Amino acid sequence: MIDFTLTDEQKQLQQLARDFARKEIIPIAAEYDQKEELPWQVVEKAFEVGLLNASIPEHAGGLGLGMVDECLIGEELGYGCMGIYTVLMASELGITPILVGGTEEQQKRFLGPLTEKPSLAAFALSEPNNGSDAAAMHTTAVLDGDEWVINGTKMWISNGGLAEITVVFATTDRQGGHKATVALVVPKDAPGFSYNKIKHKMGQRASLTSELVFENVRVPRENQLGGLGDGFKIAMKTLDKTRIPVAAGSVGIARRALDESVKYAKEREAFGKPIAQFQAIQFKVAEMAMGVETGRLMYWKAAWLVDQGLPHGYESAIAKAYCSEMAFDAANEAIQVHGGYGYVGEYPVEKLLRDVKLNQIYEGTNEIQRVVISRNLLK
Ligand code: CAA
Ligand code: FAD
Repeated sequence: MIDFTLTDEQKQLQQLARDFARKEIIPIAAEYDQKEELPWQVVEKAFEVGLLNASIPEHAGGLGLGMVDECLIGEELGYGCMGIYTVLMASELGITPILVGGTEEQQKRFLGPLTEKPSLAAFALSEPNNGSDAAAMHTTAVLDGDEWVINGTKMWISNGGLAEITVVFATTDRQGGHKATVALVVPKDAPGFSYNKIKHKMGQRASLTSELVFENVRVPRENQLGGLGDGFKIAMKTLDKTRIPVAAGSVGIARRALDESVKYAKEREAFGKPIAQFQAIQFKVAEMAMGVETGRLMYWKAAWLVDQGLPHGYESAIAKAYCSEMAFDAANEAIQVHGGYGYVGEYPVEKLLRDVKLNQIYEGTNEIQRVVISRNLLK
C-alpha cells in the first residue's frame, strides 16, 4: 500500500544531482556568495546534464519530469548551495504557470526555446508595496487592439532581467481584486522592459534578485495565459506546486548541516576527547537527523500528490513551512556545534544559516503558509 522505493530512473537522477552538487556547486559556492554573482557556467552545465528546466513536457521538447523527480533534484541542489538552487528552481517556478494556464501551443512556443540552449525563466508576482497580499497588485495591463500594454514595477524577482521569459501578473482594474488579474508572458528583449539588480542580500547571494520596471511594454494577446481574470488563480496554483521543491531544498540544507556537524564533531577535541563524545553534541545531530527524515517524508508526500493529480495545496504549505523552519534550526545548531569557527566563513555552516532564512520568506512567508493551512482546516 505504501512504497518509499524510488524507481531506477529516480535513483539515477538523484545520483546525477548529487554528483552535480559535489563537483559543480560545492567547490564554487563560497566564492560566488562572496562576489554576489550568479555562476552562469553552472547554468550551462546543468543544461548539459539535463538538470535545467527538466519539468518542460515532452511535447514542448523537454524531459517532462514530475514533481517527485524535481524535488529529488531540489534536495541535492539545496545541499550544494541554496543560492544556486534558487537560480535553477526559480526557472522551474517561471515555467510552471505556463504548464498550469497555458495551451499546448503556448507551451511549445514559450518553453520549446528553453530546451535548445541554457536559458532561464522567471515569475513576477511580488511588488514593492505588496508581497503577501498578492491580489493587491498595482502593475497594470491595458488592452490596446490585439496587444497588452504593461506598466508598473515588480520587486524581488529571482532571475529577473536575465530570464528569457518572465511570467508577469498584472491587474486590468485596480478596484477589481483578483478577478481583474491577468498572467502575461514577457520576453526578455521587450522594449520598455528593464531591471535593477538588488544588492547586499543577507544570503543566497549567488542568485540574481531584481526589481523589474515595465514602461509601456507591449506583448501580443497570444501571450496571455488562461482567461481574463485568471491571473491570480494561475499564480496560486503555481505556488501550490512550487513550494514543495522549496521544502526539498530546505531538507538539503538540513542534511548538509547534519553532515558538516558530524564531521566536525569527530575532529574537534575538547577536554581531551572529540566533542562527538559529549551527549549535548550527540543530541544536536540526532535532532537534525529527525528533522531531515520527517521533512523528507513531508515533501515526498506532497510531491506524490502533485504527480497523482490529487489536491496538494494544504500538504505543500505544511511541507514548505515545516522544512524551512526545521532547516533553519539545523543550520543554527550546526554553527553551535562548530563553536567560534561556525561563526566565520572558513566553514560552510554560517552560509547555510544566511541562505536558509530566505526559505522562510519567499514563495509565501511562513505566516502565509499558516494562513493557507488554517483556511483549509476552518473553511
Ligand atoms: N488554488 C486555486 N485557487 C485559489 C487558491 C489556490 N491555491 N487560493 C485561492 N484561490 C482562489 C479562491 O478560491 C478565490 O476564488 P473565488 O473568488 O473565485 O472564490 C480567489 O482565489 C481569492 O482567494 P482568497 O480570497 O483566498 O485570496 P486572498 O487575497 O485572501 O490571498 C493568500 C490568499 C493565500 C494569502 C495569497 O495571496 C498568497 O498566497 N499570498 C502569498 C504570495 C506568495 O506566495 N508569493 C510568492 C512569490 S514567488 C517567490 O517568492 C519565488 C521565489 O522567491 C523564488
Ligand atoms: P509583506 O507581505 O509586507 O509581509 C511583512 C510581514 O507581515 C511578514 O512577516 C508577513 O508574513 C506578515 N504578514 C503579511 N500578511 C499577513 C497575514 N495575512 N497574516 C499574518 N502575517 C502576515 N517574488 C516573486 O514574485 N518572484 C520571485 O522570484 C521572488 N524571489 C524573491 C527572492 C528574494 C531574495 C526575496 C527576498 C523575495 C523574493 N520574492 C519573489 C518576494 C517574496 O515572495 C516576498 O518577499 C514575500 O512573499 C513576502 O512579501 P513582502 O516582502 O511584501 O512582505
